[in-house]
Amino acid sequence: MYDFKIEAGDTATMYRDLASALEGLLAGESDPVANMANAAALIWETLPGLNWAGFYRNLGDELLLGPFQGRPACIRIKFGEGACGVAAATRQVQRIDDVQAFPGHIACDSASQSELVVPIIRAGELLAVLDLDSPDRARFTAEDEAGCIKLAEILARSL
Ligand code: SME
Repeated sequence: MYDFKIEAGDTATMYRDLASALEGLLAGESDPVANMANAAALIWETLPGLNWAGFYRNLGDELLLGPFQGRPACIRIKFGEGACGVAAATRQVQRIDDVQAFPGHIACDSASQSELVVPIIRAGELLAVLDLDSPDRARFTAEDEAGCIKLAEILARSL
């Protein structure tokens, strides 16, 4: 049984505990779908204020929906389109305080107000993006960005 109830008092400790729980969850398994599924569940259980947490996989010229928690979502996203497509095309984290102000934002769930998208890259190859949505404006801070970059580095070894 996995029992990863992380109840850290501050954000830095929470991300440290989350990173170590993720490393434990992924250890010894190389199947990317299983690992993305468990990672999405762990992030969903741990981070407060989310309405979607999951992955889009890189198919070469577009992104394809991967394992996630939350409401059903858009299935295919072209590179350069929406927050995920921009993150994939530029390989840059997209931390968006107000999704309505982001040109071309793709609204899978009208409740989403802010979003964090982190590219997952191994040896120069874009594998996927980690996408987090929140119903709160400006939910994601620089600390969330740094914590999720660390999670993406851990995931890059196991996808
Ligand atoms: N909002 C994303 C689409 C994916 S959903 O948020 C799950 C985007 O603009 O790329």
